[in-house]
Amino acid sequence: MDLIHEGKAKRVLQDPDSPERVIIEFTDTVTAGDGDKKEDFTGKGTIACEMSKYLFKYLEGKGIDTHFVKKLEENQLLCKKAEIIPIEVVCRNIAAGSFCRRYGIEKGIELTQPLIEFFVKDDKLHDPLITTGAIIKLGLAEREDLDFMRSVALSVNYFLEELFKQRNLILVDFKLEFGRTEKGHIVVADEISPDIMRIWDSKATSLDKDIFREDKGDLVATYTQVFEEMKKAKPDEVEPRTESIQVIVETKSGIKNPPGEVAKKALTRLGFADVEEVRMGKVFKIVLRKPITSEILTQLSIMNVKLLSNPISEKHKVRLE
Ligand code: TMP
Ligand code: ASP
Repeated sequence: MDLIHEGKAKRVLQDPDSPERVIIEFTDTVTAGDGDKKEDFTGKGTIACEMSKYLFKYLEGKGIDTHFVKKLEENQLLCKKAEIIPIEVVCRNIAAGSFCRRYGIEKGIELTQPLIEFFVKDDKLHDPLITTGAIIKLGLAEREDLDFMRSVALSVNYFLEELFKQRNLILVDFKLEFGRTEKGHIVVADEISPDIMRIWDSKATSLDKDIFREDKGDLVATYTQVFEEMKKAKPDEVEPRTESIQVIVETKSGIKNPPGEVAKKALTRLGFADVEEVRMGKVFKIVLRKPITSEILTQLSIMNVKLLSNPISEKHKVRLE
């Protein structure tokens, strides 16, 4: 099998049976500090692979698009081939790790809302935090892609948090990677295991890679223990979550816009002399019963053209809430 990519803890191989699929092989290697600290633990690859399979299947069942197809050998997953977007999407519920170091705050402080952060996927640069403006300027991803990844990461957060809660496990934070499939869909890629998330028990004891980062226990035994707990949870009891999309429709410039002109005149009369133009548009709020996927966004553009706006005189923007 041809090797496509060798990462720090995984290998990506070409599936000999399909050009659109890859085989992801989980190794026993664990790294921290962007590869500065590195060690092998027998059985780590297998447990990270099994847990990724379990959680990818669970998320797929909740309507989230992932690259997962099926499990092969004990440390191999068959996945859709996807071009990885070089941005790591981190979601935090509780302050820990680089968030505490960066802002000088205490570990364990609960954030009022889940926080999404973007990091550049580049070990040599030590995966720096990056603003959305810089991501767009550097051409690493487009604004729509970032909004989409943010929305999916928040959905993943909800579904993982609710599942873990059933077993008194606390999801502190996690990192997702996304890839673009041959069909152009953006899907959750890479892995979902304690290598990429922080999980605490009710006493804030780490059940994840912090054990290795901070040399505080048996990594494989802990991953196995947390997976056994996870398997006792009941995915069907996790409630669905609604997602909202806003479609903002505006008249194109140059097109007559009488209500806007009336409003402008009224504003001028009221003394707002610097108002150059007022344009009136409309906003549709669409509430979905499941997470937003690339396919839903494509359907929405069709809906927009056919139903919500007039493509000759109007332009529209889609906003994920
Ligand atoms: P951080 O606190 O080091 O920024 O990490 C936040 C979460 O994201 C934590 O669960 C570990 C995970 N993560 C990775 O798995 N790989 C990475 O390269 C980064 C930056 C974070
Ligand atoms: N993912 C990075 C590494 O494997 C950073 C970390 O997890 O600490 O080195």
